[in-house]
Amino acid sequence: MPKFIAKQYFKFGFILVFTALIVNACSAPEGNMDDGKRWYMMHNCQACHGNQGDDGKGPVIYPLNMGYRHFKSIVRNANSPIMPKFPEEKISNQDVADIYTWLKMKSSTP
Ligand code: HEC
Repeated sequence: MPKFIAKQYFKFGFILVFTALIVNACSAPEGNMDDGKRWYMMHNCQACHGNQGDDGKGPVIYPLNMGYRHFKSIVRNANSPIMPKFPEEKISNQDVADIYTWLKMKSSTP
């Protein structure tokens, strides 16, 4: 293969890897939806948002209509007089990801 074509392939591969890295960094970490449901109940989210996220006194959070970063920032500090703050000591990043996955998976599967 001519050298300049090989070079193009190399460039293309580099862009692919780079894009994959960026996309990966922006998306949610792997969450486990069964654990997510457990954390959701355990941390009493259901007391305000309901067992299903759409049947409580607080705002409806299922189907969840936001990205992971936004969700996490709300869990950490909802900036609300009602919703408590959940720092990392209370809910680890992994647990936030699990809850997020649960609320998202529920959304895409009936
Ligand atoms: C004591 C009641 C209470 C508890 C417990 C609670 N929330 Fe909330 N939550 C609220 C209220 C009230 C709001 C609306 C905040 C506002 O806008 O002032 C809210 C907002 C939110 C939102 C943003 C909704 C939107 O559409 O903007 C998310 C997401 C959320 N809560 C998730 C959770 C999760 C996850 C937990 C458990 C870790 C939890 N909440 C625990 C009361 C609660």
